[in-house]
Amino acid sequence: MQIKDLRYTENFSLSQFTSLGFFTTSIHLPPIHSPPTTLSHIHLCVVTTTNYTEEGWPRVKGRRTVNMAAPQAEAAPNQETFVLVRTTLPRQPFPASATRPAVTTDRLILRPFSPSDLDALHVLRTQPEVMVWTGLGRADHDLAETQAKLNLYLPPNDATTFNCAICLRETGEFVGAGGCHNRTSSVGWPEVGYMFKEEVWGKGMGTEFLKGFLQMWRELPRKEVTLRVDHRTIPKSVPENGGEAKVVEEQLIAVTASENDKSQHVLKKCGFEHALTWKEKDSRDITGETFIALPTYRYLLGRSE
Ligand SMILES: CC(C)(COP(=O)(O)OP(=O)(O)OC[C@H]1O[C@@H](n2cnc3c(N)ncnc32)[C@H](O)[C@@H]1OP(=O)(O)O)[C@@H](O)C(=O)NCCC(=O)NCCS
Repeated sequence: MQIKDLRYTENFSLSQFTSLGFFTTSIHLPPIHSPPTTLSHIHLCVVTTTNYTEEGWPRVKGRRTVNMAAPQAEAAPNQETFVLVRTTLPRQPFPASATRPAVTTDRLILRPFSPSDLDALHVLRTQPEVMVWTGLGRADHDLAETQAKLNLYLPPNDATTFNCAICLRETGEFVGAGGCHNRTSSVGWPEVGYMFKEEVWGKGMGTEFLKGFLQMWRELPRKEVTLRVDHRTIPKSVPENGGEAKVVEEQLIAVTASENDKSQHVLKKCGFEHALTWKEKDSRDITGETFIALPTYRYLLGRSE
């Protein structure tokens, strides 16, 4: 690792970066025209190339920002404080993947995963520029690690996951993966995620996928449930229910990294709204001193977009 520009060095050690295991070549801190006043305002960015945003933070390709104290973020979700709500959810088990029809959008096919997707999924999951934005934060080490991931989408695990292989309609080429991999996200609601090969970024495919997926999700058979959720996800407009569990419109959640502008843009274009931003310790930092800020978006299923 090569450090090109390290202007604010007080109180942190290089080991905090190297322990993150990044693939990148340099670290830039905010430019001199907007110097942070305290360490808690310093965003530490591991970058491959850089220019600067209007606020003075590096705009980079393949970055992951580590915010030392995530000062704007709220506390991490704590299940002990979750509240019970009455809502709906897709029936579980989900329809078996063998029975799920492929869905086509203008340019994409969203189809169930098959065991033969392993190599293509491995290509996707070994692109550092993609993986840096995922919860794992790094490329898969080997094919076995990708196989374990793929297994989560294949029978019998398709009973609890609803993920799609995303392919180009014209050629059938596998370009991405996305869907609901987590029935009870950190905040209690089901969670959607997606990732595309870097070669196809910036062509509107993320947005096209998510709109198509929302349609598939919306069409799943539903049942009424009581669910424990983080109260911060409940819209303020939801009225009290005489001391009983509030009746809350069903949600689908997406958790992003604070600097993942592209993904947040995709979410907003598809009708998601910001619910909260919370912080958690970066699991890759062995010192346990770095936090990441996680803007969390909700999609209210009653919407027509
Ligand atoms: C996030 C991801 C799916 C986006 O896919 P994509 O096909 O490039 O997305 P789209 O082209 O549909 O939309 C990107 C939008 O963000 C906008 N955008 C790009 N860079 C931006 C930035 N720095 N700030 C704000 N918006 C930005 C684009 O202009 C585009 O909006 P537009 O269609 O209105 O012009 C893709 O980059 C990816 O796979 N990233 C790695 C994995 C990942 O981040 N997954 C999401 C985890 S929450």
